[in-house]
Amino acid sequence: MRVLGIESSCDETAVAVLEEDSGGGARILSSLVSSQIPLHRQYGGVIPELASRNHSGRLPSLLREALQTAQCDCDQIDAFAATGGPGLVAALLVGHTTGKALALAAGKPFVSVNHLEGHLLSPFLSGHSDTPENGQLPPPHIALIVSGGHSLLLDVEGLGKYRLLGRSRDDAAGEAFDKVARMLDLPYPGGPQIDERAERGDAARFALPRPMLYENNLDFSFSGLKTAVLHLLPRLTPNGDPHELDEQSMCDLCAGVRAAIVDVLVQKAKRALKLSGKKLLSVSGGVSCNAALRDALADVCARRGVALSLPTPELTTDNASMIAFAGMLHARAGQFSSLETPVEPNPQLAGYATRS
Ligand code: KG4
Ligand code: ZN
Repeated sequence: MRVLGIESSCDETAVAVLEEDSGGGARILSSLVSSQIPLHRQYGGVIPELASRNHSGRLPSLLREALQTAQCDCDQIDAFAATGGPGLVAALLVGHTTGKALALAAGKPFVSVNHLEGHLLSPFLSGHSDTPENGQLPPPHIALIVSGGHSLLLDVEGLGKYRLLGRSRDDAAGEAFDKVARMLDLPYPGGPQIDERAERGDAARFALPRPMLYENNLDFSFSGLKTAVLHLLPRLTPNGDPHELDEQSMCDLCAGVRAAIVDVLVQKAKRALKLSGKKLLSVSGGVSCNAALRDALADVCARRGVALSLPTPELTTDNASMIAFAGMLHARAGQFSSLETPVEPNPQLAGYATRS
């Protein structure tokens, strides 16, 4: 089976072609991402109207190139998958409608994919994992999804069987990185900018809050971090102007922010593992390419005798391979979407609303 996936939920236009191999795994034949980050950077964040116009401009040539690289054409594709949400409606509509139109023209089935499920499944498609062979169904485990829009802890029983354990009550982890970076006048997206400076900083110099760390639940909160940085800046520079920060203070502050976010994520993941007794943790989403987070989780998992599954770095941020992979697993299970399926800005993952 060959599946073509399209991703256009935010500021990356992406197309991928996956092939099921004889052992039931999945092989990436092509995976292209056209990032709009340089375009949105001048505004300090994503402008929805610009995003959708750009998806519409970029998608046809990306489709052509992805098919060429995969050495196939549309009638050799067995199913088409596209992100149906969550995301920016006008941006989602470009990829979703294109996926439906291709399915209709080729007479093949369509799978509308939840972007978060794409992230959740990405560690099982690729690369580093102590888990079963790549390209297989997710085994029962705890999933930590940390993206720009969401921070979630889920108890996964199998494909489509996800129970919500905890979520961010305010900003998502990636959003916290992005907002603090904006306060420091660092370019969008802030995660990689803070991460790079944090490598040269001393995390112990500034004591930043770790909200809800010791509360007896699995929810997160990151908005207090912004406030703490806001109050700290005027004590470090005249008028709180981040441009007046010396290089070392900037790096120390970035290290403090990263350490606070990583600490909260790691402690909550640890608690979820303990409460559930699960022996596997998967971590996905843009923030999961953060090396400090990967190292801290690897350490916790090794000490608890828990396996850790992470996507390869290129599959952490938005991409279409994860969408095609989710589409492939649903297609294998005979789960398809009607061509009437609308996009949803804020859909729930299956079973997502139920808490323990
Ligand atoms: O999953 P993703 O590509 O998009 C969403 O679905 O939201 O995640 C993007 C987020 C951004 O907030 C970005 O700042 C963050 O991932 N990010 C990072 C790093 N690279 C990207 N955060 C921390 N450290 C990084 N190295
Ligand atoms: Zn994403």
